[in-house]
Amino acid sequence: MSNHEELARILNDEINAAADEAALEAVRVSALGKKGRISQLMKSLGSMDPEERKVMGPALNGLKNEVQQAIAQRQQVLYSQALDARLETEKLDVTLPLQASALTSGRIHPVSQVMDEIAAIFGDMGFAIAEGPDIEDDFHNFTALNIPPEHPARQMHDTFYFGEQEDGSRLVLRTHTSPVQIRTMTAGPPPHRIVAPGRTYRCDSDQTHTPMFHQIEGLVIDKETHLGHLKWVLEEFCKAFFEVDTIKMRFRPSHFPFTEPSLEVDIGCARLGNEIRVGEGDDWLEILGCGMVHPQVLRNVDIDPEVYQGFAFGMGIDRLAMLKYGIPDLRAFFEADLRWLRHYGFTSLDIPSLHGGLSR
Ligand code: PHE
Repeated sequence: MSNHEELARILNDEINAAADEAALEAVRVSALGKKGRISQLMKSLGSMDPEERKVMGPALNGLKNEVQQAIAQRQQVLYSQALDARLETEKLDVTLPLQASALTSGRIHPVSQVMDEIAAIFGDMGFAIAEGPDIEDDFHNFTALNIPPEHPARQMHDTFYFGEQEDGSRLVLRTHTSPVQIRTMTAGPPPHRIVAPGRTYRCDSDQTHTPMFHQIEGLVIDKETHLGHLKWVLEEFCKAFFEVDTIKMRFRPSHFPFTEPSLEVDIGCARLGNEIRVGEGDDWLEILGCGMVHPQVLRNVDIDPEVYQGFAFGMGIDRLAMLKYGIPDLRAFFEADLRWLRHYGFTSLDIPSLHGGLSR
């Protein structure tokens, strides 16, 4: 048997024995690569005499073609074998029920949902979101807000105090979100237009009070903002939040040390047994405190009250959530009862936005 016939047989065996595409590639390189066995034979053509070359030239070219073809065929076979094996291991029964995942069984707490709704509404009105720490110092929670030591309002706040520090002062769990007003005004120059949602704490617990609850603070400071703007912002907020076209609101005179004048705001509602309906009826429900920022507060943060003025408001978020979603008991909010959460919670894809319709 001639050299090239012998090689043809050997290569054929090797090609058929290649168990995967990598092994086949190794055979290809060893035959047709630069230093491959066929390539070496081709090179020997140059040293042959013309008669021999006439015979061997076509023979070697034929061998090269045959081997190339055999490799291509084997490659097809190996490829579909590999594909079959993969399809076999990745088989998926699409008729099986969905497995419970965080996406399908997890729920967003109504308080979180309502905070997002409120952020969407005020964000649309051009307010930025601000934040402050839950653990506050006396200056931010009280003194800067025009509540000096011995001021009776301190007692009204049922404050949780931490132990004394070296200098005798005591940190507190913030009793309201109003310290974020101070943090905003000391962080940069006016104008300011922020809302600050977050946790607040008072040592108080009964049917309508929990030691931890949620508020959202609003603050606008510039040169011309007045009480009319405050009323408009609150009215637009309430209409958007309760998703009604008209709403009855009542502004009552009140007192907070950090606003002057101070007001409390009620919204009109109907009480039907346990249920409260917003936007109808002759009853009133208090939802927030507000007012024009007190000149002394502005002075405390080095803002000239002769040049700048503005308003602030603070709302209880839990109360708003109860009202909007008909949740009867405040304390259930914080009991971490999964059955309650499955009933009152929201799915993670239900993201509040004004264009999507807040609660759909
Ligand atoms: N901080 C007040 C409270 O917790 C609410 C409030 C905020 C009132 C801002 C006026 C202005 O009751």
